[in-house]
Amino acid sequence: MVEYETHSHDVLVVGAGGAGLRAAIEAAASGARVGLVCKSLLGKAHTVMAEGGIAAALANVDERDNWSVHFADTMRGGQYMNNWRMAELHAKEAPDRVRELEAWGAVFDRTPDGRILQRNFGGHKYPRLAHVGDRTGLEMIRTLQDYAIHLGIDVHMECTVIALLKDGERVAGAMAYDRERGRFRVFDAKAVVIATGGIGRAFHITSNSWEYSGDGQSLAYRAGAALQDMEFVQFHPTGMVWPPSVRGILVTEGVRGEGGILVNREGRRFMFDDIPENYRSQTADNEEEGWRYVQGDKNARRPPELLTRDHVARCIMREVREGRGSPHGGVFLDISWIKSKMSDSSGHIRKKLPSMYHQFKQLADIDITSEPMEVGPTTHYVMGGIRVDGDTQMSTVPGLFAAGEAAAGLHGANRLGGNSLSDLVVFGKRAGEHAARFAAEQSSSSLPADAIDRTAREALEPFDRASKGASTEGPYQVQHTLQETMQELVGIVRREDEMVRALDCLASLRNRTARIAVTGNREYNPGWHTALDLSNLLTVAEAVTRSAIERRESRGGHFRADYPEKDTGYAGFNILVSRDTDGSMRISREPVPAMRDDLRQIIEENK
Ligand code: FUM
Repeated sequence: MVEYETHSHDVLVVGAGGAGLRAAIEAAASGARVGLVCKSLLGKAHTVMAEGGIAAALANVDERDNWSVHFADTMRGGQYMNNWRMAELHAKEAPDRVRELEAWGAVFDRTPDGRILQRNFGGHKYPRLAHVGDRTGLEMIRTLQDYAIHLGIDVHMECTVIALLKDGERVAGAMAYDRERGRFRVFDAKAVVIATGGIGRAFHITSNSWEYSGDGQSLAYRAGAALQDMEFVQFHPTGMVWPPSVRGILVTEGVRGEGGILVNREGRRFMFDDIPENYRSQTADNEEEGWRYVQGDKNARRPPELLTRDHVARCIMREVREGRGSPHGGVFLDISWIKSKMSDSSGHIRKKLPSMYHQFKQLADIDITSEPMEVGPTTHYVMGGIRVDGDTQMSTVPGLFAAGEAAAGLHGANRLGGNSLSDLVVFGKRAGEHAARFAAEQSSSSLPADAIDRTAREALEPFDRASKGASTEGPYQVQHTLQETMQELVGIVRREDEMVRALDCLASLRNRTARIAVTGNREYNPGWHTALDLSNLLTVAEAVTRSAIERRESRGGHFRADYPEKDTGYAGFNILVSRDTDGSMRISREPVPAMRDDLRQIIEENK
């Protein structure tokens, strides 16, 4: 019999970034006994990689802003594939969630008259991002963490969930191992909230750190939940490209929000070359006007560097492909040019972008106040994820909730920068509230002993294989090949033949994974942990690839070289991924629900 510790909670929250912390806070405030599981140490979350700000129509910098403009911007950015109910709730509730963060101790930058300052970001019509220099996500995590630990939440750090447990159709808990001792833990819970973030580690170049291996999406899928929109992966236009050891690290969009421009090796500001029709009326057609916008001139239009991320990333790729890139395969991002416009530009840059200043100085020996940065696209975010109800955040499995990046819907085909942080707190709160309500209505469940036993045996198989001398392959080569495959064959520009090759490759990697052997013992064994992450990476990689093959058009974060245009026929449905009874992956189409008339009218008015 397998040995494990048991912990009992009403609500178990898996993941301790912004969404998980906010869900845990809300559930605890409703009186639920809450357990919070995090894969690494509390406070280390991809939330900190949303550096430039949190989007909310506070209208502190431009009084014309309000929730309906934010709603319309989010829908247009998402190419109308968004769950419109989520986009509505998000735009309406984000301002309260930001004010709440302030009340809980977040120290935002200020306007001269003492209100929360807001900056420009791509796709947002007005300056809308409340920020703390370029460390907004960090400040948010600090604030939520301080608040949460005073509510008596049980925190299980360095603990990785490997299976969800069910009692009949509904979720009854989860099984995990602790990284320090390698021992199993079983969590008995009446409701579970998945808030594990994204899947960036399925790609070679990414802003995500090692934890983001699609655990939540894969756990939910294996428990019978539907995934949605997995083809929509966001490649943030600006990651570091040099030196190689730091490739992919995020360079915040806040640089462009503060006036940073993109230029190619010829010194040309190439973003003026291709302005999409639906953003033309909002986009400056000359440098001077763009700069006036950055300076706060309400009659000016925004610079083309602040077009949506999908578009900017593709323009950068075009420059590189056509031989006009920077020496290391990117383009130049220049904020130092503002010295011709401002007397104390160096002080201004260091004040507004302190982390970027230090990041480039320490990692690349570049002084961004006087030299351009080299940047290129990096896998940053997945718009798809676990399909949820817009109001409650419950998935298609009773008792299983999801929030933040792990959940699908709000962002449609492409997320606007800054909408992730507001997503986390708006829908984290909702998930926590509804999970606690659901838990209160349940009687206690019984945990499935056979599933616990099987999960433990499967998790330990890599050690058994090593002891029998059955295999010599470790997990890292498989992981590396998977990341290269996804980067090369299912990256920014996709084609059917290449994606079919990717599927073949994933199938062979699955076979190799089933033979991986791991040596050593269970205490702090990163090889073992990587071996266990692989099955999640393979699941999400396959879901992305199959969904991307199914969508034969280009839209938002999904660009098909063989179908480069939008196809209105595809606008009408989401692609769903679910597990068939034989264990194979099933792809289906579900019509996008018709939008309420009042919301449709808001979109018309804002066009
Ligand atoms: O560029 C950034 O600061 C990232 C923000 C986001 O992903 O929302």
